[in-house]
Amino acid sequence: MTDDSRVLYLLACAAPPAQHLPTGITLAQQAGWDVCLILSPSAYSWQTQEELSDLEELTGHPVRYTYKRPGTEDVLPAPDAMLVAPATFNTLNKWAAGISDTLLLGLVTEAIGLQLPVVALPYLNAAQAAHGALDASVTFLRASGISVLLGAGGFVPHIPKHGDVDHYPWAAAIDALPRRAAPNGIRPT
Ligand SMILES: Cc1cc2nc3c(=O)[nH]c(=O)nc-3n(C[C@H](O)[C@H](O)[C@H](O)COP(=O)(O)O)c2cc1C
Repeated sequence: MTDDSRVLYLLACAAPPAQHLPTGITLAQQAGWDVCLILSPSAYSWQTQEELSDLEELTGHPVRYTYKRPGTEDVLPAPDAMLVAPATFNTLNKWAAGISDTLLLGLVTEAIGLQLPVVALPYLNAAQAAHGALDASVTFLRASGISVLLGAGGFVPHIPKHGDVDHYPWAAAIDALPRRAAPNGIRPT
């Protein structure tokens, strides 16, 4: 990565595209982003040690999933933008409710107040999408400045058990990111 590359935090939750992260990482790198990967604890538990090593090699950064201990060094550069993908039903609702009991949620809840550019690309089924909490959460997040790519042009919820990770629209999410770096950033706490 060059010195002028922009730092993207890719924050992945525990839904099937979390098992295809190299696809999204590579696309973002091709768009000029220096990608740092942060996983929810559940998404972390889905990776083998070998997959985690490969992800660290691909990004050139440690993969984080828990808060650091107080007083320890930051291991990632500050972000210019964030992409939450896949964004689960669980995380979208907790994010909107202001819950920050994981590193991933801590970063995305603070990103609203810091006015960092954040894109969220959900992955969930139509039964989850029919729960009224989701509509309220997405409405709240959009009103808070988050670009939630749910619906036409983004992710369209599938029939339960009929997800298609091969057509997960990573490219649409990366296109929705800002072209220029925002001079901002919080580091993982
Ligand atoms: C095999 C499997 C597939 C899942 N697929 C989805 C999914 O597509 N979308 C979703 O929102 N949750 C899905 N879940 C449920 C989430 O993993 C679960 O709600 C978890 O608590 C999410 O945690 P996180 O949001 O912190 O990553 C799936 C769970 C399993 C075990």
